[in-house]
Amino acid sequence: MAFSPRFLDDIRDRVGLVDVVGRRVKLVRKGREYGGLCPFHNEKTPSFTVNEEKGFYHCFGCGANGDVIAFVMNAEKLSFPEAVEHLAGLAGLPMPRETPEDRALEKRRAGLGEASEAACRWFAERLRAPAGKAALGYLRGRGLDDAAIARFRLGFAPDGRDGLKKALIAEGFDDAVLVEAGLLIRPEDGRPSYDRFRGRVMFPIADRKGRVVAFGGRVLEGDGPKYLNSPETPLFHKGHMLYNLDRATVAVHDGAELIVVEGYMDVIALDRAGFAGAVAPLGTALTEDQMAALWKLTPEPILCFDGDEAGGRAAAKAADRALPLLEPRRTFGFAVLPPGKDPDDLIASGGPAAMRHVLDRRQAMFDLVWNLELGQRPLDTPERRADLEKRLEERVRRIADRSVQEHYRAAFRERIWRTFRGARRPGRPGQKASGREPIPLVGGRALASAGAAPRRRQQVVLTTLLEHPALADEFGAVLGGVDFDPDLDKLLQALQKRLASDPDLDAVTLKRHLSQDGFAGLVEALCADDVMVHASFARRGGPADAARIGLEEVLALIFRARRREELRASARYTADHPDAEAEARFLAFRKDVEQGESRMFDAGDEQDGPAGDKD
Ligand code: UTP
Ligand code: MN
Repeated sequence: MAFSPRFLDDIRDRVGLVDVVGRRVKLVRKGREYGGLCPFHNEKTPSFTVNEEKGFYHCFGCGANGDVIAFVMNAEKLSFPEAVEHLAGLAGLPMPRETPEDRALEKRRAGLGEASEAACRWFAERLRAPAGKAALGYLRGRGLDDAAIARFRLGFAPDGRDGLKKALIAEGFDDAVLVEAGLLIRPEDGRPSYDRFRGRVMFPIADRKGRVVAFGGRVLEGDGPKYLNSPETPLFHKGHMLYNLDRATVAVHDGAELIVVEGYMDVIALDRAGFAGAVAPLGTALTEDQMAALWKLTPEPILCFDGDEAGGRAAAKAADRALPLLEPRRTFGFAVLPPGKDPDDLIASGGPAAMRHVLDRRQAMFDLVWNLELGQRPLDTPERRADLEKRLEERVRRIADRSVQEHYRAAFRERIWRTFRGARRPGRPGQKASGREPIPLVGGRALASAGAAPRRRQQVVLTTLLEHPALADEFGAVLGGVDFDPDLDKLLQALQKRLASDPDLDAVTLKRHLSQDGFAGLVEALCADDVMVHASFARRGGPADAARIGLEEVLALIFRARRREELRASARYTADHPDAEAEARFLAFRKDVEQGESRMFDAGDEQDGPAGDKD
């Protein structure tokens, strides 16, 4: 019988590990631990330690380790239940008795499992019987050969009222068991029970260990739902299980990708096309339990969605559900199929290569969330960009894991910056920010030097906006991400307010208004020579493109400086907390910062290769 975790914990709490080990090994106290000669290998100097607090022993010589139960099993050569019984005796704990209810449930479940297995065999035989001719023809017509039919144990439920019932009762099963297994339906009005599945192609659903626990049945023709599934039973919980998980587990351990699709036929088509790690939920959206089961197998399962609107909604829903659960090794890839095609259709028309192509072009979770928020909405005003930023932040906050949350935040910040950096000016559609030479800045070197005062860069930003007011709107979202000094921040707000009421203000009028708003001194200082020498690209009347590019570069410097500061903070933290995890996080962060920088300075050039180039 299985012992409850509670009972095993009681044993561990009651018997002292040191007492138990001490009966075999002479132990000497060494600080928090005890040491002695290892009982599991021959040694002259003690390398065996016992930690009572943690409840574990460990030998540095031979690697033996475990808890008190493991010690008794190994030292006394006992089986697990024997060791438990031995320790329960020492602890004075009565061995738990199986309650009659426990025994009854176990027996019932065993009975249900046997009934499901018997039904599976019977359905498979019917597929080969004369009555199954049409069903077999249907499966063959969908491209399934005998090997696939056998692998997935497909069958046929004939169109009678009680064919299965008669067969299984003849095998000795109880009517009540067959009802509880979901194989028969018993009408409320007292009439006799009858077969749930009639005139359907049968897909057996197995549990993690490969035991048949339920069925999905597809209509051949006629009415009723296209697929009918077993009801919830003591063996079958839709929200926890996945179709084909048992076989996919083996395949994934052998290196296959874990791919989640919608339907039974998709799983089988993928398997036939060489993608053996395919699973499907059972007619519902992926649950958190199912996600957890997937992550046990691999850190980044691929979810496949139809490229139509419903598929988009399903992907959004899955992403929404997964977001709080993300961890450093727990995420999803999102593969988008051509609209209106499921993997079965796609493989039928384009072969495994078409599927490979779709899988290779999958999106990372991060990109999916970005695209969901970006949507088709225009981002042509500061408010709309601010709104985007806000919505992304709301998403990011839902990520429970702190490290993943931070990385999402930083990556969104950077992407916002890059996106608006390449933003097109109104009235010049189609102009791309890509492929252009950076214009060297006059004075840029001084601004770029590590020692440049952060305030100087902020001043240059404002000077540029004062001289080229139109840029204030274009850079609205990015400007919102800069931590200006308070006086400069107030000026920026006043400037944006003035422009909001009159977007076409020219530089001279804008400055006059701002002077009236109480910023006369600051405006004058910003346009004085000591600032202008760093902002020559921003001279009034100079080319707007030069001003834009100059502004982009200065903002890039500001963000780089901030990321560098964050990196330094992370380095300090890592120095104070020298553990492998903090170290790894720091290194990843540094790499991220460095890559971000190299991207920033040749931004706009990252174009994907032509769509087909991966095949
Ligand atoms: P689809 O309607 O996309 O069917 O349902 P399919 O998988 O492409 O099936 P074929 O190719 O027409 O045979 C996808 C999945 O949704 C569940 C089933 O699990 C199905 O595999 N479903 C669908 C139901 O549970 N009930 C239904 O009535 C329909
Ligand atoms: Mn289909």
